Amino acid sequence: MEAQTRSLLEHFSSERRAEIEEHVETLVSELTLEQKVGQLNLLNADFATGTAVADMDIQQGIIDGDIGSVLNFENLEEARTFQELAVEESDHGVPLMLALDVIHGYRTIFPIPLGEAASWNPKMAELSARVAATEAAADGVQWTFAPSVDVSRDPRWGRVMEAAGEDPYLSGEISNARVRGFQGDDLSADDTILACAKHYIGYGASKAGREYNTVDISETNLREIHLPPFEACLEAGVGSVMNAFNLYERIPASSNEALVSDLLRAELGFEDLVVSDWDSFGELGEHGVAGNLREAARACIEAGSDIDMVSGAYATELVGLVEDDIIDESLVDEAVRRLLTVKGALGLFEDPYRYFDEERQSQRILTDEHREAAREVARESQVLLKNEGDLLPLDDSEEVALVGGLADSATDMLGAWRAEGDPDDVTTLRTTLTDRIENLAYVEGCDRDGSVSDEQLETAVETVTSADIAVVAVGERYSRSGEAASRAHIDLPGEQRALLKALIETETPVAAVLFNGRPLAINWEAEHVPAILEAWFPGLEAGPAIADVLLGEYNPSGRLPMTFPITEGQIPIYYNRLRTGRPAEDADVDLTEPPTGPAEKYLSRYLDIPNEPLYAFGHGESYTTFAYTDVSLDAAVVSTDETLSVDVTVENTGDRAGTEVVQVYINDLVGSRARPVKELVGFENVVLDAGESATVSFELTTADLEFWTADEEYAAEPGEFEVQVGHAADNVTAIKTFEFVE
Ligand code: BGC
Repeated sequence: MEAQTRSLLEHFSSERRAEIEEHVETLVSELTLEQKVGQLNLLNADFATGTAVADMDIQQGIIDGDIGSVLNFENLEEARTFQELAVEESDHGVPLMLALDVIHGYRTIFPIPLGEAASWNPKMAELSARVAATEAAADGVQWTFAPSVDVSRDPRWGRVMEAAGEDPYLSGEISNARVRGFQGDDLSADDTILACAKHYIGYGASKAGREYNTVDISETNLREIHLPPFEACLEAGVGSVMNAFNLYERIPASSNEALVSDLLRAELGFEDLVVSDWDSFGELGEHGVAGNLREAARACIEAGSDIDMVSGAYATELVGLVEDDIIDESLVDEAVRRLLTVKGALGLFEDPYRYFDEERQSQRILTDEHREAAREVARESQVLLKNEGDLLPLDDSEEVALVGGLADSATDMLGAWRAEGDPDDVTTLRTTLTDRIENLAYVEGCDRDGSVSDEQLETAVETVTSADIAVVAVGERYSRSGEAASRAHIDLPGEQRALLKALIETETPVAAVLFNGRPLAINWEAEHVPAILEAWFPGLEAGPAIADVLLGEYNPSGRLPMTFPITEGQIPIYYNRLRTGRPAEDADVDLTEPPTGPAEKYLSRYLDIPNEPLYAFGHGESYTTFAYTDVSLDAAVVSTDETLSVDVTVENTGDRAGTEVVQVYINDLVGSRARPVKELVGFENVVLDAGESATVSFELTTADLEFWTADEEYAAEPGEFEVQVGHAADNVTAIKTFEFVE
């Protein structure tokens, strides 16, 4: 695959580009070595995600020219003060760049990124990033550390909430849209900010889902699973990339020359900024690959990492390393050049105060339009996991019992990484349903953390018994996912299962609404609760968006971006697995029963549970039904650079309008390396009225067939391929074959 990387300066006209380049060169030649090193120092001014912080007074550091950018500043006023110190008080006058983790909205909080990815709609991802950038840029932010593009197959890892799930292709489409949303067409506009693809690379493969744990993946896995979303961001012109905390080939990502200089820069052509993660340069010592900060600084600058987030390694060591002739000053110059180019692209040299405008701040944050966008994205993010007997949508003339602390918890709706999100802005499910359903009774039933007292249980059972239907909010508190929030058990915390059981025993039908930042192990619930709606953490429009779905004003269209396991013992579990030498799925064996003989036993299987997940990647139901007919390929044989058209007719066979996410997978039957059983290569959201049908076409190119071959190159190999079209990874309705010839 040829990466179509776009550098930041490519966004500009050649004159503007030359202007920025000239300005940058002048600065690089004028700044002293100490000042250049200061530029590479990124310090934290407020909230911290770790303990190790370089010891420096921020304001004095800015005046002394020892700081080039700042993250986590408090507010616009503080931002302006910092900038004034940099521009007016420091000797060099180079403006600062101000950064914040704007992950899923700034003040107008959108669904968590995993939820947004469940929309399978890049337009939603672009929209939320656009709104987030507009608000952040109006409040002094120029640089966000987003999108997270870590592909992960381990729901125990808390940070799965922050990215787009398990699949390289879906993650790529969503991440590319997020970058475009943040950066827009013109980074110097007053409503765009610099994006940062993170964490480069492999962080999502932390062993056992334990945060900050070690990673051990092959190059093939790195290239085929973890790299594609980064490439998609590079194609969108992302201007910065963040090092991951983890090792690759036993070398930390921050000091890994093969990853940064060779792969990212030389091979993929990335010309812009590489920033460390929080103290990740300092952590070289903990990893046992640097004896002291000096060795760490040397390894990281030589690897090609430009900016030091809070470790102080560059600030304290680079000058000495140059003066002692251990590293060449040109390495520092290169890093500074890249930072200054970004500052130039942001328009900071013309007007360092362009992002600090109180009027814009008051006009652009938390507008009605932004709230409406948040509601739209939250609607599309929800996934109807099951709906037995068409229990949903609710009939608003019925008596509805709403149960669960999460239904009334504003703060949890914001999820982790909430930037300036404020619980006071949130409309909870309880608030909206109280408005929209005449006979609604709310009881807490369980606390937000899942604990249930005898009294809560008793009142809930009483209320539900006399209602026509119960809507029960269950799940995790927001703080159980996000950074440093791994869980070994991913079932419903506390006594929520007991509560559901007691409510089901009342014989009033129960619909569960799930709030969570990761796939959960809800096998029992899936078996016993007739309807389950996955709402993730939907952001500040939680109530209206969920009510739209519960009341049938929006027909749910989300699909899972990550597999739900039956139990933690299946993890890692994901749809595009490799085949095994003894595939149980192909054998004529009932995997739900223990083996009774060798033909059933010596297979790649468990003795106690099936191999299949609870809910597969791509799964999601609707209030209507869809039928697929006439799947066809326009050729039986395709050769290099030819395009194959896959056509399918989809019909809405139910009685209400709805959206089907048509999914296309390929299966390369024989390769020089083992190939996955299927890989997503395309999808499309098709909106259809009741009874309406549409023909959807997908164009597959040679690039879709390529992989990292045994010859260590990206190539499509001749042979037979299957094309699978359908609703979900485990629910394809047609399989067609074609042959690829060179
Ligand atoms: C996280 C990054 C984040 C940084 C700054 C780190 O702990 O891993 O994703 O951008 O903190 O807040």
